[in-house]
Amino acid sequence: MKKLTQALVFGMIVAGGIAYAETEATDPTVIARQDLMKSFGGAAKVLGGMASGEVAFDAAAAEAAKATLVNGSAEIAAKFTDNPSDPGSEAKPEIWTGWDAFLAKAQGLNSAATALDVASAEGIGAGMGAVGGACKACHTDYRM
Ligand code: HEC
Repeated sequence: MKKLTQALVFGMIVAGGIAYAETEATDPTVIARQDLMKSFGGAAKVLGGMASGEVAFDAAAAEAAKATLVNGSAEIAAKFTDNPSDPGSEAKPEIWTGWDAFLAKAQGLNSAATALDVASAEGIGAGMGAVGGACKACHTDYRM
């Protein structure tokens, strides 16, 4: 599994996830929610690269990445409503036994992403900790 070394803040989160995904999901619902998460990983990589200076700051790309996180986090509830059995899923059953607490984690990402100042690389860097923390907070409790 390839490690994503570029993303300063998100590297651990994203690479860790990919390393665990040994079985490919086959259920369309599971694939769709994993695709949503992959879009988060892509956005985090873009923003992390700009914050660290590895990627040149690009206002439009930063806005687009922020929008992916803001809009995507609002879709988490709908993407996780069903819980089909799929050995390729890393979602813990606690999501569906503690639905409101899970939604609170989704809201945490939405708030952190909404607050992210993407007008400069410095602004992104200042807000990345909160965004990365929101990813981690949910993964710690709800992802295998
Ligand atoms: C509300 C909870 C929650 C939040 C917030 C969250 N994730 Fe996830 N993430 C999950 C769960 C649950 C899975 C496992 C889904 C599955 O396999 O069915 C997952 C899986 C992933 C995966 C693996 C996808 C795959 O291909 O299997 C990546 C990458 C990922 N998340 C990145 C992120 C990033 C980056 C953020 C923050 C910007 C984030 N996630 C925020 C719950 C969350």
